[in-house]
Amino acid sequence: MKALVLSGGAGTRLRPFSYSMSKQLIPIANKPVLEHVLENIRELGVKDVGIIVGDRAAEISAVVGDGGRFGIRLTYIRQDRPRGLAHCVAIARDYLADDDFVMYLGDNMLPDGVRGVAEEFTARRPAAHLVVQRVPDARSFGVVETDTNGGVLRLVEKPSVPRSDLALVGVYFFTSAIHQAVTAIRPSSRGELEITDAVEWLVRQGAEVRATEYSGYWKDTGRVEDVLECNQQLLDKLKSSTAGDVDVGSELTGQVVVGPGARVVRSRIRGPVVIGAGTVVEDSQIGPYVSVGRDCVLRDSGLSHSIVLDGASVSQVSGLHLSVIGRSAIVRATGSGQHRLVVGDHTRVEVVA
Ligand code: DAU
Repeated sequence: MKALVLSGGAGTRLRPFSYSMSKQLIPIANKPVLEHVLENIRELGVKDVGIIVGDRAAEISAVVGDGGRFGIRLTYIRQDRPRGLAHCVAIARDYLADDDFVMYLGDNMLPDGVRGVAEEFTARRPAAHLVVQRVPDARSFGVVETDTNGGVLRLVEKPSVPRSDLALVGVYFFTSAIHQAVTAIRPSSRGELEITDAVEWLVRQGAEVRATEYSGYWKDTGRVEDVLECNQQLLDKLKSSTAGDVDVGSELTGQVVVGPGARVVRSRIRGPVVIGAGTVVEDSQIGPYVSVGRDCVLRDSGLSHSIVLDGASVSQVSGLHLSVIGRSAIVRATGSGQHRLVVGDHTRVEVVA
């Protein structure tokens, strides 16, 4: 079996971060989403992985390279612009040949893995085997209707009135039957070739399409709120380790990771918290549920349930909560009695009234 990872797309819902970085590289518990994805694929025993990339190809290959670090072989497939998930399958046709494959959306987090579904697929080899989960509001997902035996009856992409609460999770198992389906469909009203339509085409042709209801944790990290929630979920499994320095004036409780070269000085860290390599935390109260990237500076500050990306600094600002602070961003107090903001497009700032 091969894998096809989708790591192109525009990421507009993850603005402002997606203006300057690929959304699949947003760190969750200090590791890019895409790395979590590749580790899950490796866990299935899959070694040959095609990766769809768009304009940010260089940035993605700088992080995941040829895949050797994950024990896989990555082949890059360039998509000129986001033309839909089924378009990704079409441009990977030569790479995939007639092999079975798992298609994995590069922004989907499933920390419990998908081994169980992969085994079901390999045992029965239906034309398509989908992963689904019940959600309170299915309107922003592909929606699936099944019979009582897990057979798929109908699929619709982002319906305004969903006929079921079963949402399509971003992991799909296919035989080569999908290739005929992606050539048979036409672009949807939003101008994309939808994989949901391709699978629906298979159903209408009488092909066997199955779905497994996934009981593990799943998050599409498309929005900032999802990224924060997922960060919290992963930090719950954190195990303490200290490679950096923690001075005697600091107090660490719960699970705390202090990366190599990081320094914690006169601070209280309430885990779960991960502090990246080379970061300095001084006179601050951090946690719970905080991920701080590499080479950051947190001074005289207080921060909980948040993510700080590489190179950012926060000084003399307390009470930061549910915040995401971008790469090399500066957040600091002024003595002027007035607020001063230099914020980029589609940035969100919420200050205490
Ligand atoms: O997360 C699950 C949902 O993912 C499913 O329920 C939907 O049926 C499915 O269509 C998809 O919906 P999204 O609107 O979340 O898809 P998005 O545009 O975010 O793209 C998913 C991934 O695929 C993302 O990593 C970007 C990448 N992509 C997307 C498009 C449209 C590409 O590489 N190329 C593309 O052309």
